[in-house]
Amino acid sequence: MSLLKGKTAVITGAARGIGREIAISMAKEGANIAFTDLKIDDNMISLEKELNAMGVKAKGFASDASDYAQTDEVVNEIQKEFGSVDILVNNAGITRDTLLMRMDEETWDMVIKVNLKSVFNFTKAAQKFMLKQKSGSIINMSSVVGVSGNAGQANYSASKAGIIGFTKSVAKELGSRGIRSNAIAPGFIITDMTAKLPEDVRNEWIKGIPLRRGGTPQDVANACIFLGSDLSSYVSGQVLNVCGGMNT
Ligand code: NAI
Repeated sequence: MSLLKGKTAVITGAARGIGREIAISMAKEGANIAFTDLKIDDNMISLEKELNAMGVKAKGFASDASDYAQTDEVVNEIQKEFGSVDILVNNAGITRDTLLMRMDEETWDMVIKVNLKSVFNFTKAAQKFMLKQKSGSIINMSSVVGVSGNAGQANYSASKAGIIGFTKSVAKELGSRGIRSNAIAPGFIITDMTAKLPEDVRNEWIKGIPLRRGGTPQDVANACIFLGSDLSSYVSGQVLNVCGGMNT
């Protein structure tokens, strides 16, 4: 299929996990892919090769999404090399889980900076090009815990709830200029991030999911294709839960 043919998608934190799958799935739909991650490593190089072999233009960029100046620089570079920024997927994120009584200031600040400030950084840098184009789709990776909270994840949940407020505000500010902004709230998705959890915790999560399985990165990527493509041309300011029915 070619739902995204001719569009350039920028995906942050895409060297592995959900971001990597989004990059591959969007390339399958014909999008050119500019992706970022913290450093140029084997993961980044192999993804770049895989995407180029699919016949689209693709390039990986080393950049810390939580750094404002670096982000502005990398988005300008992407615009120069690719000619447009049509889809922005703010995917980069980290967890530093611990109970509030043990959470120090540094752990709080780090999660808010990487998960929430990065979304501001990339959206701010990309919107100037989207405004000129009078089109764009911004997709922000929130989480079910940003909607409902979770013990042991006060920092992470707060960052993901912040993303939802940001997403809705941007939808209201930029909608009249043809720019859409939506959030995805994945539930329990099987990636490196969740593999770190002890097995009993993972099994407990799965028991609470009506579809009785963890999600796959492909499940999330499919939602990104919908939100990035013209199939969702009348959808903005929404939070799409991709959670097997968990948040119902
Ligand atoms: P992951 O840990 O497998 O991959 C995250 C990627 O982001 C890594 O490649 C990492 O190097 C990159 N990254 C981290 N900090 C960065 C920074 N400052 N700048 C640029 N890149 C950075 O995580 P996963 O599971 O693929 O998660 C992707 C997104 O989905 C995250 O925002 C996460 O919070 C969200 N999410 C994941 C869920 C899950 O169950 N795995 C559930 C709900 C949301």
